[in-house]
Amino acid sequence: MSEEPSIVFRPPEREDGAAIHQLVQRTGILDVNSCYLYLLLCTEFADTCVVAEEDGALLGFVTGLRLPQRPDSVFLWQIGIAPDAQGRGLGKRLVRAFLETSGARDARVLETTISPSNAASRGLFTAIAREHGAEIQVSEYFREDHFPPGHESEEHYRIAPIR
Ligand SMILES: CC(C)(COP(=O)(O)OP(=O)(O)OC[C@H]1O[C@@H](n2cnc3c(N)ncnc32)[C@H](O)[C@@H]1OP(=O)(O)O)[C@@H](O)C(=O)NCCC(=O)NCCS
Repeated sequence: MSEEPSIVFRPPEREDGAAIHQLVQRTGILDVNSCYLYLLLCTEFADTCVVAEEDGALLGFVTGLRLPQRPDSVFLWQIGIAPDAQGRGLGKRLVRAFLETSGARDARVLETTISPSNAASRGLFTAIAREHGAEIQVSEYFREDHFPPGHESEEHYRIAPIR
């Protein structure tokens, strides 16, 4: 697949927070947090977040953070691609860009959580693990009964070694 050179990957700025919040809503599948939370990520956690844009329009984003209790790990919190840009390799490019951010590039372990029914997300992280020759360990994290009714469980994925 040829990669669209016009797509720019960069750390978010606080001006991106509202657009990320809207894109989260457009995915129809991600938990929608407050706009304040996305603004905070773009401001205080920008070194472990990436946005992808084309001609000034937001096509995708990834948010994450380092875990003080597990210094080897970077935790990928949410990733979302605009519905009409999904399935074209952008998710993989965003995760690669995420792993190269100044905040994540020395991490040896990638952690994230995935709902069991999210085949696209599983496909994405399986592909990333394959690229790194890494193993995936899946374990229980947030059960369905931790959430209000109607929310699926979130399983923990530990992917290592990265690089
Ligand atoms: C999950 C998501 C980020 C993946 O990004 P994407 O750009 O669509 O995925 P890519 O095109 O980079 O594909 C990555 C891998 O996943 C696989 N994949 C993509 N969509 C898939 C699907 N619906 N079912 C199964 N596998 C799928 C691809 O085949 C590829 O694997 P390969 O390299 O072995 O061929 C995107 O679909 C999305 O934004 N979904 C809605 C939000 C969401 O669920 N986010 C994840 C939870 S935080």
